[in-house]
Amino acid sequence: MKTLILCSPKGGSGKTTISRNITVAAALDGVNVASIDLDPQGTLSNWWHRRPTDIVTDIPHYVFAIEESPTWLEEIGQHDLLVIDTPPSIYMWPEAVKALLLKSDHVLIPTQPTVDDMEPAVHWMDVVIQCGVTGEFVLNKCLRRGRSISEAKLYLSGYGPVCPIELTQREDVHRAAANGFGVLEIPKHPAAEEFQILWNHIRQRMRLPQVIVQDITGRDLAVNRSARVA
Ligand SMILES: Nc1ncnc2c1ncn2[C@@H]1O[C@H](COP(=O)(O)OP(=O)(O)OP(=O)(O)O)[C@@H](O)[C@H]1O
Ligand SMILES: [Mg+2]
Repeated sequence: MKTLILCSPKGGSGKTTISRNITVAAALDGVNVASIDLDPQGTLSNWWHRRPTDIVTDIPHYVFAIEESPTWLEEIGQHDLLVIDTPPSIYMWPEAVKALLLKSDHVLIPTQPTVDDMEPAVHWMDVVIQCGVTGEFVLNKCLRRGRSISEAKLYLSGYGPVCPIELTQREDVHRAAANGFGVLEIPKHPAAEEFQILWNHIRQRMRLPQVIVQDITGRDLAVNRSARVA
């Protein structure tokens, strides 16, 4: 079982948005993935409860108190991957959060490409590195025009690895979430390609095996990654 943590002290950076879309991408890829909500705001849980009951991408979901981390890890059934969403108030529980980081396999630190947003993110990267965990910054809510993306990458790369795919600011990202979907569950969603590439990158980075299925002739096929809605 591998654990991916979405973590940053900066509110609104995209932790929950990336958590749910990565979880959906993994489930569509045939990975036995579960989502975990450690945020008392319950944004990820609210989204999970909005999911249609007949949806084919059934995702087990757990809610735990962050201050009890990581004792609850033992209560979770067997999954290939846990995607853990955290609150912005992580400095309130330094010991519990550090103990959780020590048990994790990879950390994503989402940040918008502005200095106000990146400064807290780079301080958090120091904590992640001190815990001996691999982490990456993920640039989110990027505007495609202008120099801010390349300048942000240059700045962040001085403090830690930067994910090679950045996510664009798009109004339709939260529209999908409003109905309990990930963008990959909506056919031809404009953000689907970015989240698919992000997931492909994470799968390789975390060395999660590609799920292979066989067609009726016995030929190996990678699991169909196209959008599937029940
Ligand atoms: N790429 C994007 N394009 C447009 N809107 C986005 C994008 N990413 C996130 N948002 C929106 O920004 C807001 C904050 O995102 P999100 O809830 O994922 O951040 P968070 O880091 O989990 O916040 P918190 O720290 O409060 O838990 C939400 O309204 C979300 O829909
Ligand atoms: Mg959140």
